[in-house]
Amino acid sequence: MIRSVVRGVGTALPRRVMKNADFEGVVETSDEWIVQRTGIRERHIASDDETTASLGEAAARAALANAGMDVAEIDLIVLATSTPNNTFPATAVEIQNRLGMTHGFAFDLQAVCSGFVYAITTADLYIRGGLAKRALVIGSETFSRILDWTDRTTCVLFGDGAGAVILEAQTGEGTTADRGILATSLRSDGSHKEKLYVDGGPSTTGTVGHLRMEGREVFKHAVSMITDVVEDALRIGGISAGQLDWFVPHQANKRIIDASARKLGIDPAKVVVTVDRHGNTSAASVPLALAEAVGDGRIKAGDMVLLEAMGGGFTWGAVLLRW
Ligand code: ACO
Repeated sequence: MIRSVVRGVGTALPRRVMKNADFEGVVETSDEWIVQRTGIRERHIASDDETTASLGEAAARAALANAGMDVAEIDLIVLATSTPNNTFPATAVEIQNRLGMTHGFAFDLQAVCSGFVYAITTADLYIRGGLAKRALVIGSETFSRILDWTDRTTCVLFGDGAGAVILEAQTGEGTTADRGILATSLRSDGSHKEKLYVDGGPSTTGTVGHLRMEGREVFKHAVSMITDVVEDALRIGGISAGQLDWFVPHQANKRIIDASARKLGIDPAKVVVTVDRHGNTSAASVPLALAEAVGDGRIKAGDMVLLEAMGGGFTWGAVLLRW
């Protein structure tokens, strides 16, 4: 059977780093409050010349270099983002153009913080369905552009960045010993819209809008939703949480990450954490964390890896793969 195997990873972060102390004077907050409630110490914030397309392009180029591949070998680009350069065309097509690629096809996918998990699941289906051989799956965001910088309950939580992976069709045996994506589980429930949304859009206000979040309400649902999809992916994959080598969660809040790992019985030493340096980069958070753990040698060929995310919608999902 065909499996979607990860061939390369890449990242891009804006030049400017904003530390918690830099918020003092912007809103009424403190480094101590932010660290204690979220685990965030700093985040990268895009300058005017840095966009979702430019960061996505840089992450894609880094992933191509990491895989030792040329863009001519890619036939699909799926970009997960909620902060596109324009309402249309899709920013994925802009990235395709920036990469000098005029063959194949590219599209955006929007599932907020779960975007990368949705995008990698989608690319896997295109590959296993025979419509693509090699896919660039990118998560790229510039959430700083949709933040209300007077609202201390949200503006301290988010950052900008991009991460990318290259998936390639390879033949597997159909067992858990195969490399590549082994199981996925996606969920959504629109009844939670008001807890996390952007208060503008092309069809309603005609504006871009600002992010609004009832953080406490999101927190209340996060751990149970995350553990449900993770357990579902593990059940489909036929492995136990104890057999995981690495857990790469969405990086929204260290307390949510710790509580989810605890509930799932995952050893904290196997949890990849970047939220302290990136904040919540929405669809970019999982590939940024993944690429860091690959880059520093923690994730190695053959390792069993579990990705998960939960975000606006609500949307949530998990992906089990062997590296
Ligand atoms: N600095 C100082 N005080 C603050 C700040 C701040 N930046 N923000 C809020 N406070 C205050 C509040 O006003 C409140 O004060 P009060 O008690 O006088 O009313 C107090 O701190 C406690 O506020 P809570 O909201 O109860 O704090 P909590 O411990 O829940 O932490 C947080 C807030 C960090 C937002 C947390 O709820 C959280 O992480 N929620 C989940 C967010 C998330 O996971 N999102 C994922 C998806 S994101 C996406 O899809 C785009």
